[in-house]
Amino acid sequence: MFIEKETNIDRPAEEVFQYVKDFSQIYEWDNQVVEAQRLDLAPIKEGSKFKIVYSFMGVTQDLIYNIETIGSSADHHYLQLSARAKMFSATDRIEVHSVTEDSCRLVYSADIKFTISQTEPFVRVYMERVGNVLMKRLRIALEKANECEPPQKYLNPLSVPFWFTRKGWNQRRKGFKATLSCPRKILITGPTSGLGRSITTTLAAKGCSFVLVARSSSKIEQLKADLYNLGFEGTLKSYVCDMADLKTVVATCNKIIDDDQVPDVLINNAAALYAKPLEIDGIERTTVVDLIAPWLIAQKLSPQMLAGSCIINVTSGGMYAAGLDITELKRARKPFSGSRAYALAKRGLDVMSWGLNEKLKEAGIRVHSMHPGWADTPGVVDSLPGFHKVTKRWLRNPFQGSDTIVWLAMNNPEQGGEFWLDRVRQSRYLMPAGGRSMPDDYLRLSNFLGQFSGPVASHC
Ligand SMILES: NC(=O)c1ccc[n+]([C@@H]2O[C@H](COP(=O)([O-])OP(=O)(O)OC[C@H]3O[C@@H](n4cnc5c(N)ncnc54)[C@H](OP(=O)(O)O)[C@@H]3O)[C@@H](O)[C@H]2O)c1
Repeated sequence: MFIEKETNIDRPAEEVFQYVKDFSQIYEWDNQVVEAQRLDLAPIKEGSKFKIVYSFMGVTQDLIYNIETIGSSADHHYLQLSARAKMFSATDRIEVHSVTEDSCRLVYSADIKFTISQTEPFVRVYMERVGNVLMKRLRIALEKANECEPPQKYLNPLSVPFWFTRKGWNQRRKGFKATLSCPRKILITGPTSGLGRSITTTLAAKGCSFVLVARSSSKIEQLKADLYNLGFEGTLKSYVCDMADLKTVVATCNKIIDDDQVPDVLINNAAALYAKPLEIDGIERTTVVDLIAPWLIAQKLSPQMLAGSCIINVTSGGMYAAGLDITELKRARKPFSGSRAYALAKRGLDVMSWGLNEKLKEAGIRVHSMHPGWADTPGVVDSLPGFHKVTKRWLRNPFQGSDTIVWLAMNNPEQGGEFWLDRVRQSRYLMPAGGRSMPDDYLRLSNFLGQFSGPVASHC
């Protein structure tokens, strides 16, 4: 069965080809694709492989697509990929022709051979429809106007089990816009596990370079070896730093500046939810690791960051359960609840994101706050075993949980200071604001955080 579809796109052919040749972006424009990842990290060429999780007539299956041919001339680019599954094999060809300097024509064809050829007439009608939707989605994904939906007024608690799980991601995915790869220098904390590892691998496939900050030197060496084994050709710098030790956090930032490793994108990802309380210099450890350390890193590095850079703070939907409470941030309530201490610290991190964004606006640096929904990571298994056991079937995988972080890192949307989930701005509270104000909260928080700053930059 041979299907061919085409569409015009108002972008230069080169730009469109750069996007579509990274077949791992297909989940942004093919509604049938539930997940897509690169299996190697070298620049895309003949032999590059992609794992595509495809939902075909309601049945989900993994396909490994392999680039057979790829090439470009002045006004024509082409790519041919093949895949083999139990019930069919497919050869897909994408051609992009220049029309004007700023527009092109994309032709997509698929040659599908079924093991049981009698099924073909039934499938053809379905595939023709899929092909039409595919071209429409691709055109929309690549539209230049990247308008964001306005944030909701508040979060309906009854909708949480839908939006925070993989169901929510799958729903929102159908409206995703193109993530155009823009190789940047990324500093990420906690890259050795869960979301951090997924973010690092996905951004490595997009040609980014890295400053990795982790507490375990053996894990960081293993991560580096894994990336290089997958063909990564960029630069990787690493620093060992425990976020619970604020002196080391400051020393690490100073070293990063001395080594000329200040990033374009700072991702404050490392965090933990502890079962037991512990005070570090009179402050609850959760507050130190999940709030003060990321604040210090932003504080130290942002004066060195260039206009166009951004900071991404990974907060949590757990913060919906807490308002800003400085007394409790300092000393945990008794009896200790790890979830409560975590929710408070993440609330603080979100308030900090809003306030820092206001401060850094003039310097052209944006600060984004986001939460990943509920994702199946070692962190969740270890800190919330009961929750993990009950919700495992519905949890997002790390790729889905980290998608918005990757998107923020590549797109740096112009709405800084917002709180995101699945590329959509969110309400920060369960209920309408009622007397709260972000400027007031930020003032109270910065008075508290200020005591940990030491000498800091003028614009913070
Ligand atoms: N997964 C979810 O459903 C979920 C939901 C909401 C928010 N989040 C947030 O997403 C981020 C990533 O979490 P995850 O689920 O991927 O958890 P994870 O698998 O436990 O990964 C956390 C990372 O942070 C590092 N880390 C923890 N404590 C540290 C410390 N004291 N110093 C330096 N590094 C430290 C860990 O290092 P090691 O590898 O050495 O342990 C690990 O690399 C966190 O900010 C978390 O709060 C996750």
